[in-house]
Amino acid sequence: MASKRPIIARNSKPKAAPRRTAVSAAEARAGAILEIDLGAIARNWRLLQSKVGRNVWCAGVVKANAYGLGVVPVAKTLAAAGCKSFFVASLDEALALRDVLKTPEIVVLNGLDAGNAHDFLKARLTPVLNDLGQVETWRGLSLADPRARQPAILHLDTGMNRLGLSRPEIAVLTTEPDRLAGVTLRAIMTHLACAEEPKNPKNAEQRRMFLAARRKLPQVPASLANSSGIFLGQDFHFDMVRPGAAIYGVNPLPGGVNPMAQTVGLKGKILQVRDVDRGTTVGYGAAHRMERTGRIATVAIGYADGWFRSMSPRATAFIGGQQVPVVGRISMDLMTLDVTGIDPAHLKPGAYAVLLNNIITVDEAGTRAQTIGYEILTALGRRYRRTYIGAE
Ligand SMILES: Cc1ncc(COP(=O)(O)O)c(C=O)c1O
Repeated sequence: MASKRPIIARNSKPKAAPRRTAVSAAEARAGAILEIDLGAIARNWRLLQSKVGRNVWCAGVVKANAYGLGVVPVAKTLAAAGCKSFFVASLDEALALRDVLKTPEIVVLNGLDAGNAHDFLKARLTPVLNDLGQVETWRGLSLADPRARQPAILHLDTGMNRLGLSRPEIAVLTTEPDRLAGVTLRAIMTHLACAEEPKNPKNAEQRRMFLAARRKLPQVPASLANSSGIFLGQDFHFDMVRPGAAIYGVNPLPGGVNPMAQTVGLKGKILQVRDVDRGTTVGYGAAHRMERTGRIATVAIGYADGWFRSMSPRATAFIGGQQVPVVGRISMDLMTLDVTGIDPAHLKPGAYAVLLNNIITVDEAGTRAQTIGYEILTALGRRYRRTYIGAE
């Protein structure tokens, strides 16, 4: 039946005893349990901070609900671990986070517009200025009320062609420095396009362009590296690094040994088990045909829970410590496993099939879905019962 053991093996035990009664009742109702290890998240962040050394500050990127893991518990955990700068994508995300974190710096990557700039001032948020128009808006506000003058981060595009001042805009800013007069610049940043490919010449190219532009701009701290960028070496660290995915256990060195700890475990409840004859088909499209007489277990997780349909031919789960294949197509709420030969003691309705652990990592799940670990994390379903373990 339902095991109380953590899904992902951990090095350290949680200090506080979990409140068993409340959790058990909710767990009993839930079709699937997502376990999020806050201790592992804190350790991952500390590892990244130690990798860049004391003179570089390590921010935490917590956009998209902390990559799907829950921005409130994650941000509190990172703040307790020593993180002082938090990056989100949108103003709404920043306002929600400000309710939880009263003092730390909250930076909004998607920038501001003339209509919402006052909200940044009111909630003490740091906008990323992504074009000359945003620079002008922030400057106008700063000059109008010098007491309310708040820092901003200037984003230079060096090769993503997504957000940030373009090359011609950078040229305008360097030849007309007055455009920044009155603006308090907290930092200048750029973003790498190919950080997870250490041999890609684009990394050095972007760094060179960043350095060249920076030389002609106010001498404020600089930031370039995301998770993988941190592993490109000291030359890429500058004054602040901005990891997201690695904090949550995604491998910043794809194809290499993952230095980060897994932070999520997932298990789904077995709803039904049935014996099926050789030749029987399973699921939509009758896409799987049993080659022998066997046994099928139906588990309460589907693509509406972020377990992508594209995984179907490659997906597996663990039951009673043994790996079994998903057979047939993953449907909206359900998937079917071939559990032929598995000890029936592990197959009672209410027992669990484990879908994410130290072997089926978020990166592995990403590969199986022909996507990346980032997408697996941010798609994790809202129907899961979420339990947070390992809080320090
Ligand atoms: C500008 C910027 N900085 C940092 C990050 C964090 O990147 P990662 O999750 O790869 O560490 C992102 C994420 O997309 C980003 O857009």
